[in-house]
Amino acid sequence: MDKLIIKGGRRLKGTVMISGAKNAALPLLAATLLTDATCILKNVPALSDIDTMMKILTELGKEIARTGNVVTVKSGDSKKCRAPYELVSTMRASICVLGALIAKRKRAEVSFPGGCVIGPRPIDLHLKGLKDLGADISVKGGYIIGNGSGIRGNRIYLGGHFGSSVLATANVLMAAVLARGKTIIENAACEPEIVDLAGFLKKMGAKIYGETSHRIEVVGVKKLHGATHSLISDRIEAGTYMLAAAITKGDIFLKNAVYDNLLALIDKLKEAGVRIEKRGGGIRVRYVKPLKPVDVTTLPYPGFPTDIQAQMMALMAVTDGISVITEKVYPERFIHVSELNRMGAQIVLEGPIAIIKGVKGLSGAPVMASDLRASASLVLAGLVAKGATEISRIYHLDRGYENLENKLKKIGADIKRVKE
Ligand code: EPU
Repeated sequence: MDKLIIKGGRRLKGTVMISGAKNAALPLLAATLLTDATCILKNVPALSDIDTMMKILTELGKEIARTGNVVTVKSGDSKKCRAPYELVSTMRASICVLGALIAKRKRAEVSFPGGCVIGPRPIDLHLKGLKDLGADISVKGGYIIGNGSGIRGNRIYLGGHFGSSVLATANVLMAAVLARGKTIIENAACEPEIVDLAGFLKKMGAKIYGETSHRIEVVGVKKLHGATHSLISDRIEAGTYMLAAAITKGDIFLKNAVYDNLLALIDKLKEAGVRIEKRGGGIRVRYVKPLKPVDVTTLPYPGFPTDIQAQMMALMAVTDGISVITEKVYPERFIHVSELNRMGAQIVLEGPIAIIKGVKGLSGAPVMASDLRASASLVLAGLVAKGATEISRIYHLDRGYENLENKLKKIGADIKRVKE
């Protein structure tokens, strides 16, 4: 297993190229199951989660070739319909093959995804939405067995305890595009990754309306054709580097970052005193004066993303004053707190609320990465901490940050990957 060693205290300056979005790539790869024609996806990041999804598609009979950031998916054996436990258990997002299999192959056998370190992650909304479309769903031997021979359009309410669901919306959308008649998804997620998925499906011939809102309409078509699509850039990766600029008192240009997809984070960073400018082809982020604490509540898009909560907490941990972070998407997503505290942060948890008393500085320590975004927050803390921070179990980072240490090195960080 690899670990990262970061010696903190360097001001980061320069340009970072933002990669294609992991959370767009996963459902878009699943969407290729909706056709037997060839699909080409561009700007696909090289990440272990993407490798897992490609393995699942291969398992489902697709022939996949990757050249750099371009992935070509061709039809092979289109009768296969089983996404096995060995793969699904390593990545919950594998569940997004369910809707496409039900719609196109009329049968799905997808392993029930297990628990998750960021808290309970039920799939009731996925199953409810697909059942409302007329799919026959049962659970047998740890697998979701779906039969889609009778699916037809319907009006579906897809809100849960925590609001809309990104991948449940993706699953229902993918099933609805091939279901006879009209489907309306109420309380749909409208994350930029859902809009990108709808854009790809439309290129394949789907009829989708309103995907930037919480009410998506779909008119089913008989068949989809192949398409070529370039993925949007990763707003969570961009947000993480924005915070790297702020925490290191740096000045970073994020090439390819989309300003409009990051408004909630930009608003909070500006309130804290960070200078942020929309520039041709990206965003410039600069530290200009001591920062102020801010209060943040995570919410579905266009609210503050839960996927940037941990990284924001690292910044607030070294910002003078008290800030409060309320997690409303995954109320238990706070595994980074104890590790940040080991580095000298003063963070107290009260249920889904973290109260952060900013400290003057953090000190490097051996810490353990426990999920993707928690790991990113430890990297940010390491960049500003005095001395060396050793982050173990960094395979989590490899799931979601393309080329992390090289990108950071290029803008001045003292970071290296070593074998444990
Ligand atoms: N929820 C339910 N029932 C469901 C589905 C979700 O109650 O059937 C709840 C969840 O437990 C959670 C909330 O609804 O409290 C929102 O979860 P959502 O379904 O939107 O999450 P997801 O679609 O499984 C995606 C991202 C996550 C990101 C969340 C929230 C992908 C591949 N994953 O997951 O990304 O945190 O949306 O924005 O798109 C990450 O990249 O690190 C990551 C975890």
